[in-house]
Amino acid sequence: MIDIHCHILPGIDDGAKTLEEALAMAEIAVKDGISCIVATPHVIAGLYDNSREDIMSAVDEVNAVFARENIPLTIVPGAEYRIEPGLARQLKEGRLLTVNDTGKYLLVELPGAFIPDYTAEVLYELQLQGVTPVIAHPEKNAAFAEDPSLLAELAARGICSQVTSGSICGLFGTKIKKAALRLLHKGIVHFVASDAHSNRGRRPEMAAAFELLKKQFGTEAAHRWVIENPRRAISGETLLAGKIKAGRAPWESLITKLLPVFTKNSS
Ligand SMILES: [Fe+2]
Repeated sequence: MIDIHCHILPGIDDGAKTLEEALAMAEIAVKDGISCIVATPHVIAGLYDNSREDIMSAVDEVNAVFARENIPLTIVPGAEYRIEPGLARQLKEGRLLTVNDTGKYLLVELPGAFIPDYTAEVLYELQLQGVTPVIAHPEKNAAFAEDPSLLAELAARGICSQVTSGSICGLFGTKIKKAALRLLHKGIVHFVASDAHSNRGRRPEMAAAFELLKKQFGTEAAHRWVIENPRRAISGETLLAGKIKAGRAPWESLITKLLPVFTKNSS
């Protein structure tokens, strides 16, 4: 598996704090079946001002350590950019780091509580420069979780998105798990990745989510989210798209039908 969203570089954001923690994360990832990680430290103006050069040299350093320690894991460069009005200008100035620096895919994070009003415009300006934005964990954004059609609108305009493996496994609660599954069911999600921050809590693991996805959506879709599209992203290739589905997922319709029965019986 290839993990396109992971905070493994030590000491440059709220991910791994030390090289020892990065090593522990690498061991967990290898054990889980991950062979390549896109290091995606946060870039948030005034909070994590990580430059392209900072990230590139940190990637070289950890790869050298992993090689010395015989850890069969490759780290490639990337970043997670908080959306802001000046993002497209920074891309034009050559200051941003796309997934594996291919110039094709850019991981973009929105605030948790809302969608800023400049979002669609900024994403479009990135696309005009030949870069496809990948929205990080839309299931954790309250607006997308509440109304998946907002993400569907962006997907129809060629915007990609990445759901987090921990969300699928219920690590952040039932509400986020349901939102994640709903977005996946709609066929508007392109990747599943760990968004790991540590060797405890949010760990670099995707195998459990992969199994769950296979059961719920079939092997082909699960393979596309966890293996094939991540491989295409780091190679700068065109992604495979799922079939966009309207309406509720079958299990949601069942819950809607049964809920009044349960409510009646329990009263
Ligand atoms: Fe992240």
